[in-house]
Formats: sequence, C-alpha cells, structure tokens
Amino acid sequence: MNVLVIGANGNVGKLIVNKLQESENHTPIAMVRKEEQLANFKEQGVQTALADLEGTIDDIAQAAKNAEAIVFTAGSGGNTGADKTMFIDLDGAVKAVEAAKEAGIDRFVIVSALGSQQWLENPRPDWLEELGPYYPAKFYADQWLKNSGLNYTIVRPGLLSDDNAKGKVKLAKTLVESGNITRSDVAQIVVDSLDNENTYKKEFDVINGDTEIEKALDEIEQ
Ligand SMILES: NC(=O)c1ccc[n+]([C@@H]2O[C@H](COP(=O)([O-])OP(=O)(O)OC[C@H]3O[C@@H](n4cnc5c(N)ncnc54)[C@H](OP(=O)(O)O)[C@@H]3O)[C@@H](O)[C@H]2O)c1
Repeated sequence: MNVLVIGANGNVGKLIVNKLQESENHTPIAMVRKEEQLANFKEQGVQTALADLEGTIDDIAQAAKNAEAIVFTAGSGGNTGADKTMFIDLDGAVKAVEAAKEAGIDRFVIVSALGSQQWLENPRPDWLEELGPYYPAKFYADQWLKNSGLNYTIVRPGLLSDDNAKGKVKLAKTLVESGNITRSDVAQIVVDSLDNENTYKKEFDVINGDTEIEKALDEIEQ
C-alpha cells in the first residue's frame, strides 16, 4: 500500500517511514509541514507531500491523493502550549480522518497514548488531570476515528524511549499498568498493523513485554 505518514519528520514518524521503505508490501509518502524538511526524504528516495495540520481538510486530502492508507503519528510535543495540543493532537487528527474520507481512503492507523482511554472515567486519576488537555485531546481524537466508519487501528503506547528495539511487547485493550516502549517497537507495530486483519477496528495499549510483536497483534481479542 502507499501509506501517507502524517508526522513523518517526528521521532516515531521517521522510523515508520524507514520501515515502510524497507518493507515489501508498502511505500511511504512522508507528509511534512515545512519546505526544508522535504530534502532529507527526497535524498532517501521517499515520496513527499507538503501540508500543515493547521491548514484545511482539503490540504491534507490533497497530500493523501496517492495514498491507500494513512498513519497519523503527529503531535504538538512537550514544548508548546495547550492551544497546539488542541490544534494538532485533537483538531489535526480529526481533520486527517475527514481528509481520509474526502480522499476515499479507508485504512487509518493512529498513534495515541496509553491512559487516554480513561479520560471519561469517574473518578479520574489525579495524574490525568495534571497532564492538562493532552489526554482529552487524544481521547476525543480516537473517538472521532472510531465513529468515522473508517477501518481504524488505535495504538496507545506507554512512555516512549529511544532505546534499541526490543521486539517484544505486552499488549491489551486496556493494560492495568503503565510502562515504557521503544519508538522503534511502536513503529514496527504500526507498520505490521497496516495489513494485519486482526488489528482492523481495534484499539490497544502497548508497552514492552515478553511477547513477539507479530504474535501479540495476531492474538488481540476484543
Ligand atoms: N512522548 C511519549 O512518551 C509519548 C507516549 C505515548 C504517545 N506519544 C505520542 O506518540 C506520537 C509520536 O511521538 P514522537 O515522539 O514521534 O513525536 P515528535 O517527535 O514530537 O513528532 C511529532 C511530529 O508531528 C509533527 N507536527 C506537529 N505539528 C504539525 C503540523 N501543524 N502539521 C504537520 N505536522 C505537525 C511534527 O513536525 P515538525 O517535525 O515539523 O515539528 C513532528 O514531526 C505523538 O502523537 C505523541 O503524542 C508520545
């Protein structure tokens, strides 16, 4: 599949682009928001598309015009304010879902965050409140995707690390514990999910653990 990677210039995004490029089944299209970010991907022989998540749905749909699937791994990062969390992690994700529909793309994999699914629980754990709008942004973006009619997979990783890939995970619809996972393993999960039918219309938390990624994806129940 031709896969538009939204957030391609990010830490997880670059790893996803590389893994898609190495794979036999997929071809990445790196979506970036700045002209100067195009060169590295072009040198690498990766197709690119220029669009900003703060732009219009049409802009994103145009970026997706040659794609058959979308991976959303963008985020506003820790150094911006609450406004950007809402504009990128929530509104940007919603616009990407609408752009997929506009472009006639059915398959959509999103990188969310472990813990966000608890947002509506009452009483809420104190730590959710402390993180401001990040968790509600992820939660409502995921809800929008689930209600979109698209063939979604929602990947909710724990705390991301830049350690070498471990290749083994602990994965469940809802994990009762938190934990770390390497960005490389998250990228592998995203790429492997794209055409693994057992991940279609599913959502899951994931941290590093004892189960091979492929086996963990094949065994998702919900
Ligand atoms: N950090 C954690 O422990 C953790 C845990 C669970 C889940 N997550 C989630 O995992 C995902 C990937 O994380 P990461 O470490 O790869 O993040 P990252 O390195 O900050 O990458 C985020 C990417 O989003 C892009 N982006 C931001 N605003 C944009 C806009 N207006 N238009 C287009 N692209 C835009 C950034 O573009 P630029 O390169 O131009 O800035 C960047 O490339 C994020 O959604 C994050 O919330 C993180």
